[in-house]
Amino acid sequence: MFVSHSSNNLLNIKSKTLKRNWGVFMDPIRLGVNIDHVATLRNARGGSFPDPIEAAKIAKESGADGITAHLREDRRHINDNDIYRLVNEVGLPLNFEMAATKEMLDIASLYKPHAACIVPENRQEITTEGGLDVVGQSDRLRKICDELSSIGSRVSLFIEADEAQITAAAELGVPVIEIHAGAYSDSNPEDRPAELEKIKTGIKIATNIGLECHVGHGLNYQNVSKIAEVGEVAEVNIGHFLIAEAIFSGLGNSIKKMRELIDNARVQQE
Ligand code: PXP
Repeated sequence: MFVSHSSNNLLNIKSKTLKRNWGVFMDPIRLGVNIDHVATLRNARGGSFPDPIEAAKIAKESGADGITAHLREDRRHINDNDIYRLVNEVGLPLNFEMAATKEMLDIASLYKPHAACIVPENRQEITTEGGLDVVGQSDRLRKICDELSSIGSRVSLFIEADEAQITAAAELGVPVIEIHAGAYSDSNPEDRPAELEKIKTGIKIATNIGLECHVGHGLNYQNVSKIAEVGEVAEVNIGHFLIAEAIFSGLGNSIKKMRELIDNARVQQE
């Protein structure tokens, strides 16, 4: 059994396929670091510090596999120039979170991010409050997904772990869904196992119909391992907790510890 708690060894196994002792291969999990809230801090004083692109470079050095950034219609955190710089200056794949609008599609066409994750967006919300309604707007989403695919971006849809939504996503031909983990992350300890089961069921349904599964929203040191233990989860995207924890332990350290937790969750499946 290959179990190591040293971060060097864990980084070494990151790029390898892990073999379970009954012969099933388990892929390593990718860590996407969302740097939106570095921009929130910057914008609080209207200057250029702290720079989200510098944060993305630290994330790269600390074991992130990709950077996630949400360009909101109101530009409350990330701005257009950040997206330009994230694509050109960091050297990690960018997962561009975007509302399903013509404006965002035009911006995606300009910068051609590695991945585009379509999220619901509501001006009044503090953060993304729920999954996208793919069932209710499949015609509109189909056009946007097709255009994003045609520019070479890997499209994902941020949805609840709900069978109808997952099936509707698959019918649009997207390769990836990201499951909204908010209900799980925000749940009381008594309700958490049931919320975890909903996510696991959603992941099973999605994987069986050929979708790659990512999970995000509200993940932290306490709740991430149960998600990372699910072998079919290809990627977790984590933002607010990592940036907030950086106040106490430094950004590199908060990301390295998260990297270690998710890698450990995978290895301990053996
Ligand atoms: N994934 C998606 C699609 C999101 O919209 C968000 C929040 O912007 C996250 C992941 C990260 O969530 P959190 O900041 O709570 O870690």
